[in-house]
Amino acid sequence: MQLIERIEDVRAQVDAWRREGERVALVPTMGNLHEGHLALVDAAREHAEHVIASVFVNPTQFGPGEDYDAYPRTLEADRAALQSRGAEAVFAPAVTTMYPDGGTLATRVEVPSLTDRFCGIARPGHFTGVATVVCKLLNIVRPDTAVFGRKDYQQLLVIQRLVADLDMPVTVVGAPIVREADGLAMSSRNHYLTQDERRRAPALYQALQAAANRLAGGAAGPREVEAEAWRRLVDAGLDPEYFSVADADTLEPVGDTIGRVVLLAAAWLGRARLIDNHELTLDAR
Ligand code: PAF
Repeated sequence: MQLIERIEDVRAQVDAWRREGERVALVPTMGNLHEGHLALVDAAREHAEHVIASVFVNPTQFGPGEDYDAYPRTLEADRAALQSRGAEAVFAPAVTTMYPDGGTLATRVEVPSLTDRFCGIARPGHFTGVATVVCKLLNIVRPDTAVFGRKDYQQLLVIQRLVADLDMPVTVVGAPIVREADGLAMSSRNHYLTQDERRRAPALYQALQAAANRLAGGAAGPREVEAEAWRRLVDAGLDPEYFSVADADTLEPVGDTIGRVVLLAAAWLGRARLIDNHELTLDAR
């Protein structure tokens, strides 16, 4: 397992693989890897002969007062885990490599139509940081395929959209959410939960499931399930930030509609901000 820190070295490695006619997949991460990330590596291996993961805690996607400094950095354990799943290299640049001018760039990538809601409201500037660093990573590594988790559904749409709009020659793959046995979506931020909070955390998943079942069965419309889910989360001791039924492609609110929708939710539980979602196709009845 190679540890690559310099842009020219990662490019040289990818060029060498490509000269052999082999494909390369990139799994961008911020490290502190868990089974959810490692499932992205498994997915990446289905698309390419060579898998590179990037580990970079990107300062520009954290807002003031967020957990950039506290974000767990576990590169040695991450390398071992990546190797065990068949990744061949990890690209772990320093902050000064990605942002030579001290954390800022004159250029920003923004996808406002998809980011003026949900996590984009709760975390102003977050998606500009994500979109910009993902563009940089894709331009540095130049993979054939890049794999992202569907847990960060809004992020995935933003990345798919920027790749399409900027004609970037990469296929974006969204891999399924990986859950704990009780339904809690895996996340590095789950470490922030106390024992008692960890016991209550699956309420987010349960609220999504219940809402999806009510919608799919025609028992309630979008606004009704949103209100029910909100109450359910508050009753479970969570502090909901949003719970919405949205169009799966545009993230616009949906009325009594049919087609592909996504139920998106974020809630605070102690120090942890949990997000989760449920994708659903509503059939004509
Ligand atoms: O999902 C993440 O871990 C990050 O937002 C990403 C895509 C690696 C960009 O920093």
